[in-house]
Amino acid sequence: MDKKTGNNYIGIAVLGLGVVGSGFVKALLEEQRAVTVPGSPNVHLTHVLVRDVEKKRLVDIDKDLLTNDFSAIVDDSETNVIVEVLGGEEPAATFLEQALSSGKHVVTANKEVVAKHGRKLIEKAQANNVEFRYEASVGAGIPIISALQGSLASDYISGIWAIINGTTNYILTSMASGGLDFDGALSEAQVLGYAEPDPTNDVEGFDARYKLAILASLGFGTYVDPSEIYCEGINSLHARDFKYARELGYAIKLLAIAREEMESIQIRVHPALLREDLLLAKVDGVYNAIQIQGERVGRLLMYGRGAGSEPTTSGLLGDVAEVVRRMASKGEKVAIVSEERQKALKPISDLHTSYYLRISVLDQAGVLAAISQVFAKWDISIGSVIQKESDDISQTAELVVLTHVSKESAVQQAAKEILGLAEVESIGSLIRVESDV
Ligand SMILES: NC(=O)c1ccc[n+]([C@@H]2O[C@H](COP(=O)([O-])OP(=O)(O)OC[C@H]3O[C@@H](n4cnc5c(N)ncnc54)[C@H](OP(=O)(O)O)[C@@H]3O)[C@@H](O)[C@H]2O)c1
Repeated sequence: MDKKTGNNYIGIAVLGLGVVGSGFVKALLEEQRAVTVPGSPNVHLTHVLVRDVEKKRLVDIDKDLLTNDFSAIVDDSETNVIVEVLGGEEPAATFLEQALSSGKHVVTANKEVVAKHGRKLIEKAQANNVEFRYEASVGAGIPIISALQGSLASDYISGIWAIINGTTNYILTSMASGGLDFDGALSEAQVLGYAEPDPTNDVEGFDARYKLAILASLGFGTYVDPSEIYCEGINSLHARDFKYARELGYAIKLLAIAREEMESIQIRVHPALLREDLLLAKVDGVYNAIQIQGERVGRLLMYGRGAGSEPTTSGLLGDVAEVVRRMASKGEKVAIVSEERQKALKPISDLHTSYYLRISVLDQAGVLAAISQVFAKWDISIGSVIQKESDDISQTAELVVLTHVSKESAVQQAAKEILGLAEVESIGSLIRVESDV
């Protein structure tokens, strides 16, 4: 990295020096060319914010650059760009608002902050004539944000189907291929460093929900509040569900889905059965994939590593390079979507799809008739029923039912009534089938 020379440099401060921050700082120190173009000013690392300045770091860095005082950064006139990789909502959201108000460009990988505070931060950036960029917040190095803001911005997006959480996709892949149950697959992912010691954000679907809020806001030009997105995690799935789904020709994935339906948007995160021949069904391990349906572009799939220091650094460097190019050319800013809501979000109860139910029943005559009667009462027609292994000791058997397209509210009511039948022990799983991908 070049030394400061007169006014011909751009000062970059980094907030956070963990997994991502270390990779980004290393790349910035070693590869100036990654963020500059011929004729543009050189970049210079001005500060790195951490909690503990004494901690041993993954990257070789001049200790004088480390600080735990954000005001030393925001008040520094030689810092033009702030790259935020702290994680979590606070203090990151407050820091970024202060940075933009002070006329600093901001680049972040923090999906929680973008999903919850993006609108306010975009407005703040526009008011202060600076950039607010967040490519790495969804899919790490997959360039989906700039595609939605740029090449795809003139198309009419009607659907987004995404596998955007590598941790859960790794767990589901292990459950499907290794026959592991949820706890075993989670422990394996933790040992390999693919899951956090506290995996709540990933396995409950919250991380995917933040990312979907960002994608849907851009894709549909309608601000989507993440708390309004229906969200179901993966922790109630069983290894048996993967076996039965495979017998029926399906894979099970945690999908983040946003679809335009008339004047509203159906938006949800939940495990879903996907026909095995679909490309999304073949996305395994920690990989991510985002499928877009555009009126002109048709179906488009972006696939890649959605986490990790290197891919995330790629997304961050691209954003910083764009800021540097614009500062060098004093070019116009691209419009960043920040629109008033035009479309309502559709409640999950209005969803129409097929459903997979795994029902544990007493192994006796008349059970199927009783269950069929409940489905008929709620106008749900059954596509197929398979009876799985019976347990001689407990005298129970499992029924796997695949319904035809039905209304969510009717299926939920029917499930409640079926659970109340004397012949039924439990409903092990109720999983939506995503057939229109
Ligand atoms: N990890 C990935 O693969 C990945 C991929 C895409 C996006 N992201 C996003 O990137 C961000 C960073 O993730 P990460 O995995 O690098 O996190 P991390 O390893 O936990 O690192 C966080 C860093 O921020 C510092 N920090 C946290 N709170 C602070 C505070 N209040 N004041 C000062 N410093 C503070 C920590 O300082 P100390 O080191 O002193 O504790 C640490 O250096 C998150 O928003 C994450 O969602 C991560």
